Amino acid sequence: MQNHPIIKQIQQSGYMPEIPRAFGESLNMLLEPWEYRIDECISKLSTVPGLESTLIHILNYNAKLNREILTLKDAVVYLGAKNTRMIAIAYITRLLLPNRKGRAEIFDNKTYWKHCIGTSIAAHLIADETGLCDKDKMFTYGLIHDIGITVLDICLPQHLDKIHTMQLERGVHHIAAEKIILNGATHTEIGMWICKEWGLPQEIQEIVGCHHSPFVDSESANEIRVMYLADSISTNYYERLLGTEKTFIYSERIRNMLNISKEFIEEIAEKLPKEVERVNRVIEYI
Ligand SMILES: [Fe+2]
Ligand SMILES: [Fe+2]
Repeated sequence: MQNHPIIKQIQQSGYMPEIPRAFGESLNMLLEPWEYRIDECISKLSTVPGLESTLIHILNYNAKLNREILTLKDAVVYLGAKNTRMIAIAYITRLLLPNRKGRAEIFDNKTYWKHCIGTSIAAHLIADETGLCDKDKMFTYGLIHDIGITVLDICLPQHLDKIHTMQLERGVHHIAAEKIILNGATHTEIGMWICKEWGLPQEIQEIVGCHHSPFVDSESANEIRVMYLADSISTNYYERLLGTEKTFIYSERIRNMLNISKEFIEEIAEKLPKEVERVNRVIEYI
């Protein structure tokens, strides 16, 4: 993928943010919190430009605390590993990218962000129901699963607008539209490439890279299947937000492999609009 012409264009766009590799290492530590050494983890997190001030700001202005949070260490100790890693991932997914709104003109990343939150909520519910993977990690991974789309929004916005238009006006499936516009590449490959560049944990790389290929043989197979199904449910929710009547059909085989009922999926789909608005209000400060 490294030598694909689209990756070259992304690199040459001049918009690709520099993320220190220490950030990926700190996330690895936060994923195994019982093993992590807090001071080492904090010193790695502190290499991410702006993360410390954002965390401190969120806590002092949006949470009703009885003490003031002054340092990154205060914030991490208060939030705990689970919440810190969620905020850190949401932060790099959205804010570290220059110009928070992205640069595409037709594609609307605020609506797309709701799809990501919807995927997080659905993944959390499916993980909880099946017991096959850690539901809190799955929530976090939902936020970043389509990071490849964010990269396109920032670095190659005209391409993303063309893909989006093809999808809306001609009803082309978004993966097929991407392959046409991006010289055979897709947002999953771009996302996996950026996760590797940033040194993000292997599990995240695999989910980002394989969430549209749920039959892949991988160490994170359960996580990939859960994310695939969550993404499918949330894609239908996103289509409604865009005002289209299209329904994305998920694989029944994956549903059976996860041993969950159609009714459970319908229940999630019904809950999603309200839940997304609720979660969006909580994390819009990030
Ligand atoms: Fe995707
Ligand atoms: Fe998605």
